[in-house]
Amino acid sequence: MAILVTGGAGYIGSHTCVELLNAGYEVIIIDNLYNSNIESVNRIREITKKDIKFYPTDLIDRDYLESVFLENKIEAVIHFAGYKAVGESVKLPLDYYHNNVTGTINLCRIMQKYNVKKMVFSSSATVYDVYERGAICEDFPLKAYNPYGRTKLMIEEILRDLYVSDDSWSISLLRYFNPVGAHSSGLIGEDPQGIPNNLLPYISNVAIGKLPELQVFGNDYPTLDGTGVRDYIHVVDLALGHLKAIEKVLSTIGVNAYNLGTGNGYSVLEMIHIFEKVSGKNIAYKIVNRRPGDLAICYADPTKAKAELNWAAIRGIEEMCKDAWQWQLKNPHGYRTLESPKK
Ligand code: NAD
Ligand code: UFG
Repeated sequence: MAILVTGGAGYIGSHTCVELLNAGYEVIIIDNLYNSNIESVNRIREITKKDIKFYPTDLIDRDYLESVFLENKIEAVIHFAGYKAVGESVKLPLDYYHNNVTGTINLCRIMQKYNVKKMVFSSSATVYDVYERGAICEDFPLKAYNPYGRTKLMIEEILRDLYVSDDSWSISLLRYFNPVGAHSSGLIGEDPQGIPNNLLPYISNVAIGKLPELQVFGNDYPTLDGTGVRDYIHVVDLALGHLKAIEKVLSTIGVNAYNLGTGNGYSVLEMIHIFEKVSGKNIAYKIVNRRPGDLAICYADPTKAKAELNWAAIRGIEEMCKDAWQWQLKNPHGYRTLESPKK
């Protein structure tokens, strides 16, 4: 019996595959490599010294997807595959709805056909309608403000409807806060294409000299130092949260949402200073205008995940920055080599 991991070659997926293999699960990846590199799958094998099946397919290709279910005995699915860039989703909404929502519907149809009714889904803290309410609980009001967020919210609702139609499904909706860092081996990590959108990859690009300076988006928020505060979570803690969620879906039925965050917030300036400390590098930055759509503060109340999944994040902010830096140092071009600069 195996766990199928969609998007398993990507950032969070690859770290989760490592933890699944270490815990003794058989793992099958499907990924179209749209935003990842086959080298990450080789690195998963290298870290774990275990084999892993990889299918280079797209969730939109239902026939190929079905062949994966025919060839393997799949027990449960962890569904990471999707597009994830907020700004791009505003420009390309149809691509986002098609890839994320249609891809998920295809997957669920085939799961249903093969009687595989256990799923862990990658949702996001972006589904919350939050305005400086303090720590975010799972029962807070939900609302999306861009096409990417709407795909997450729609998929959550589709999965709830699926359970209403057939109560033998078991589904965990994992709402991630801000995943950062890398595996302690430095062999797998976040490998954004082009200029990074997110804070930590941007900082580490400045630290290694690939980008001249960080733009800090606003210092007039109602926070300790005026810069935005987020709940950064080590990607390995996040991966371990998926193991707990898999245990849960394998042993129960129903649909449950869980926050995966630490419950602690750090500002942009704090992140810069911690990264400087662990890397020994100076991070040049300048304060610019606020980025449209940004919140001042966003951090999780992780109590429900602790109580029901027996999971809590244990890796601190310095470890997150240290592991991100080690990944950057060991892989200055990400998974690409100088001989093969393209993906
Ligand atoms: P990622 O882009 O590194 O991984 C996603 C993987 O899915 C990629 O390898 C990509 O090639 C693959 N993929 C995309 N569409 C596909 C399709 N139609 N068929 C097959 N493969 C496809 O992203 P990530 O950071 O690892 O995020 C994983 C999931 O977690 C995503 O659903 C994302 O929306 C969600 N999430 C991420 C964050 C974050 O900050 N990284 C925060 C909240 C939620
Ligand atoms: N920031 C900067 N400069 C940068 C990048 C970010 O100052 O170059 C600041 C932002 O303004 C924010 C903080 O750093 O205050 C974190 O920004 P990120 O872009 O790293 O993360 P966000 O919290 O904005 O967004 C993340 C994911 C989204 C997801 C959202 C909510 O990238 O996909 O969390 O879960 F929707």
